[in-house]
Amino acid sequence: MTPIEKPLLAALNGAKTAHPPLWLMRQAGRYLPEFREMRKRKGSFLSLCYDPQAAAEVTIQPLRRFGFDAAILFSDILVVPHALGQKLDFKEGEGPVLDPIRSVGELTKLSPHAALDALRPVLDCVGLLRQRLGQEHPQATLIGFAGAPWTVASYMVEGGTSRDHIEAKRWAIGDPTGFGVLVDLLVEATSSYLVAQAKAGAEALQIFDSWAGALGDADFETFCLRPIAEIVRRVKLSCPATPIIVFARGAGLLHVRVAEIPGVAAVSLDTAVPMAWAAREIDPRVALQGNLDPVALLVGGSALDAHIARIVEAMAGRRHVFNLGHGILPPTPIDHVSQLVARVRRGA
Ligand code: CP3
Repeated sequence: MTPIEKPLLAALNGAKTAHPPLWLMRQAGRYLPEFREMRKRKGSFLSLCYDPQAAAEVTIQPLRRFGFDAAILFSDILVVPHALGQKLDFKEGEGPVLDPIRSVGELTKLSPHAALDALRPVLDCVGLLRQRLGQEHPQATLIGFAGAPWTVASYMVEGGTSRDHIEAKRWAIGDPTGFGVLVDLLVEATSSYLVAQAKAGAEALQIFDSWAGALGDADFETFCLRPIAEIVRRVKLSCPATPIIVFARGAGLLHVRVAEIPGVAAVSLDTAVPMAWAAREIDPRVALQGNLDPVALLVGGSALDAHIARIVEAMAGRRHVFNLGHGILPPTPIDHVSQLVARVRRGA
């Protein structure tokens, strides 16, 4: 298939498609037995991320079952701080654990110049995937990704997943100049990483700002919007043809501002945003992705059908990419994913 005919690329580039292209955030993961098997074989999550063959294989697993319109590189947003030299561990049942960095002085522990070299296995995986997808799943668009500076900084400062982000916000609000040094460092590392992914074969890129909703509007402007806009500007300068999707989870009314960032092809919407509102308020030149509640997918049946229908209806006449409002939940039954795919493809 030529790039023009790939449904997701077409939708991101402004074409109308018969059915919305479909993929799911965290589509490779623990709800699949073949993933759990590979994960067990590799021993740790990070060793899976840094093994190009194994990571390519788990990236493709969900496509084999569901024929999604995209393959999203199997990796994690935290490989960037790891590549910068911060200690990172994924503890069973606990999520990521990092050695927290809480002052400008501690930034000297990071080595920005070595980061891209450390990410070489991930870039090799992108190259491998592009080759394999061309042969095995020619309809699929290869999506590369990275975390946005605010979300990645939150993990770096908190030392892991945080409910309230008090330490990261304490630094950002109390010492915006110092925190800005960390943000600028992440803008630089993330831009070069995304450009390298595009050059290695990623056809579209998604930026995840999972904790965007934790900031008030002024801080959102400074620490979410501005750094993302700068990353988009730099990536588009090197790779003007690569569409960029931004997922600013919890941004609420400010999703409109995210969509106004020059060069953004699509915004991904979380579960809390009414799609009918988004269809009205967000610039029609920007495609809309997301919103399905991962719990509706977990529940399945007629509740799932109703949730799908509501989104499809609100998106009539809009450039639309079907997706969840956040990642698929590990206990999600595989049959429910098949139900979703069938429903979206036949036009809910
Ligand atoms: O979407 C995909 O299928 C591609 C792979 C992907 C992963 N993480 C794999 C993963 C992507 C795009 C991510 C992004 C990511 N990672 C985000 C942004 C999106 C979001 O969910 O908000 C964030 C915040 C992270 C950080 C992270 N990674 C956390 C908090 C955790 C622990 C929680 C959990 O789900 O286990 C991870 C681990 C992780 N990343 C797993 C996977 C498949 C589970 C690891 C395992 O198998 O044990």
